[in-house]
Amino acid sequence: QVAQALKSIARNQQVKSYIQQSSELYPLLLKAAKRFVTGENKQDGIEIANELISKGYLISLEYIGENTADLGECIKAKDEFLNLIEEMGSMSMKQTVSFDLSHIGLSIDPDTAYNHLLELAKKADQYGITLMISMEESSKTNKILDIYKKTTEQYPNVGITLQVHLYRSSGDIQELIHYPGKIRIVKGAYQESVEVALSRSKELNNRYLNLLEQLIEANHPVSIATHDEILIQEMEQRQFLKHPNVEIEMLYGIRPDLLKDLKSKEYKCKVYLTYGQEWYLYLCHRIAEYPENLYRAVTDMIDP
Ligand code: FDA
Repeated sequence: QVAQALKSIARNQQVKSYIQQSSELYPLLLKAAKRFVTGENKQDGIEIANELISKGYLISLEYIGENTADLGECIKAKDEFLNLIEEMGSMSMKQTVSFDLSHIGLSIDPDTAYNHLLELAKKADQYGITLMISMEESSKTNKILDIYKKTTEQYPNVGITLQVHLYRSSGDIQELIHYPGKIRIVKGAYQESVEVALSRSKELNNRYLNLLEQLIEANHPVSIATHDEILIQEMEQRQFLKHPNVEIEMLYGIRPDLLKDLKSKEYKCKVYLTYGQEWYLYLCHRIAEYPENLYRAVTDMIDP
């Protein structure tokens, strides 16, 4: 409930304007956000991406945004992604771009999101760039999967995220396994009712391992997106991480120590980077899913 409240506060227009106009609060919060966000502009993301690539990591870049209900804003977001892909392509950065479909039109109607996605997929395909669609609240799952399926048949460089906590995912995977796109497996970040989702538990971790095993056995490209050390140890024991089609992906700033350690064992390790003016929303998401981050944020703010 606290997590949901925090997310609602972050999405509130008045809070957003207040933060943006406050010359004292804005720089302080931005300082705290920089633990998790590369910065406000594309160049910030590209610069850190290049640094990480030179150290042997793969990267995924997102221009932050979600639930955009204004068509003009959706078009702006889509154009920002096109420019990002163009710039990555011009540097031969054959990496990944990630986004929410609700950032590029899903909140208006599915066709808008689909048409924008096709534009992005075509451009990304020219440069050998992969697109990963994030998964949002369960009320949107059907629409997101429909758009994904239509697109990946034409552009196999488009992948999808699957939330293990949703009960429906064990059925969805049976279908998704027949589509070519990469599947990123996450536990699930949204608060869902007990009728549709499991909460964090041993059972959830077992489901994670089970779904992952099915993808590995089918030789399907997969991204393991978790920071759960115990779960990762179990995957190592089962030799999942050595598989050529498997990579492990973590959010920037969450467990860099753990990811570095995994990279030293020569597993494919990817860092999920974000940039954009909506960084405070992203900061609130990270605090909501792990409240200890609030202390880190406060420490970062007062640290000279
Ligand atoms: P879990 O939440 O059980 O945490 C395990 C441990 O990891 C914690 O005890 C802590 O040590 C550490 N940890 C986890 N989160 C932390 C945080 N914020 N700060 C500090 N430490 C933390 N979700 C979704 O619904 N749709 C999506 O599209 C995506 N996309 C996505 C991409 C990538 C690359 C990642 C890594 C994650 C996502 N997620 C997501 C988020 C995902 O669903 C999940 O909420 C987070 O990864 C946290 O869950 P864990 O698997 O890390 O385990």
